[in-house]
Amino acid sequence: MSKADKKVSKDRPGLFAPMTLREVTVRNRIWLPPMCTYSSFARDGRPTPFHYQHYVSRAFGGFGMVIVESTAVAPEGRITPCDLGLWEDGQIDAWRWIVDGIREAGAVPAIQLNHAGRKASTGCFAVGYDGQSVPEEAGGWPTMAPSEIAFGGLRTPRALSVDEIHGLVGAFAAAAGRAVAAGFQAIQIHAAHGYLISQFLDPLSNERDDEYGGDLTGRSRFLVEVVDAVRGAVPEGVPVLVRISATDWAAGGWDLDQTIALSKVLKEHGVDVMDVSTGGIMSGVSIPVKPNYQVPFSEQVKAKADIPVTAVGLITKPKQAAKILAHGEADAVEIGRAALRDPYWPLRAANKLGIPSTEIPYAPQYVAGAY
Ligand SMILES: Cc1cc2nc3c(=O)[nH]c(=O)nc-3n(C[C@H](O)[C@H](O)[C@H](O)COP(=O)(O)O)c2cc1C
Repeated sequence: MSKADKKVSKDRPGLFAPMTLREVTVRNRIWLPPMCTYSSFARDGRPTPFHYQHYVSRAFGGFGMVIVESTAVAPEGRITPCDLGLWEDGQIDAWRWIVDGIREAGAVPAIQLNHAGRKASTGCFAVGYDGQSVPEEAGGWPTMAPSEIAFGGLRTPRALSVDEIHGLVGAFAAAAGRAVAAGFQAIQIHAAHGYLISQFLDPLSNERDDEYGGDLTGRSRFLVEVVDAVRGAVPEGVPVLVRISATDWAAGGWDLDQTIALSKVLKEHGVDVMDVSTGGIMSGVSIPVKPNYQVPFSEQVKAKADIPVTAVGLITKPKQAAKILAHGEADAVEIGRAALRDPYWPLRAANKLGIPSTEIPYAPQYVAGAY
């Protein structure tokens, strides 16, 4: 982006401008990104009172879109035994009160659908084995991936057959249908961070010599089929977002050029927003983490693939977030860890930016406490 383009433009929508995607209008451009909480303690994929409290309080805090964390499309696709799931119809009802709560607070409920592939069956605070594979005797399970290549010290996966891949495409579509049945208004497909879809995309983890490997078209086939199947399983008016890692930060791996080429294809297949993150396919790479460190990637995807994007990654300050939109580097920003410590980040940001409280999303019950 040239210096002239980067000049702040008053014509560009600000943080509190609504954004319409298909038939869904999001009240602002400050979104909660998906963040695992590993709190489905009965290990049945169902949400708990914790999830209600966690997501609905952030909706009351003013977030425009609340993207529920990585939710498994199959039990073997859970990152940990305590992940959320939508792999069977019996799970739908357990979601309704959360979805209703988010909507009642004025936010758009979205959900990230995922299969962890070779990074499944790992530990967490509630299970132990943090950062390791959970043994089968402790409730873990064998993993699967495009190729028999392990991630770091985790267990080696077996390679999926073509029939199994077709089954997984169906699993994503079925889970998306269940999400809509539960009331979710947008679907995010997790194609980032080294989970199953990203394992297919990446030459470092995909050594297949069939139609699901090889060149960019082959490695992208699984994701494109998932997108088509999900689009076919949800109403036309429901936006579909894809989260992507724009780079592995490693030589010979997935990179920005492939991300841009893929984003153009996904746009043709009806994807509405690219949520641009990075990393996760390899352990031990050096990532230059600092404020805005992923923003140049979202800016490039937006400019070169001509598709709406979100920016994420160490965006913590209101002015910093506002500038990203004013510079045209993204269409919405996502506030992750800062929202774990402050569920009311958007309301506080509005105050810091001098926006009158009448113009921002206070629920009537909380107006008396407005800044
Ligand atoms: C506790 C935690 C859990 C996360 N879980 C997910 C997840 O389920 N899906 C995902 O795509 N990213 C996940 N992420 C990444 C975040 O969505 C976000 O991209 C990252 O934290 C960078 O943004 P931040 O600097 O604002 O936190 C997680 C991050 C954290 C801190």
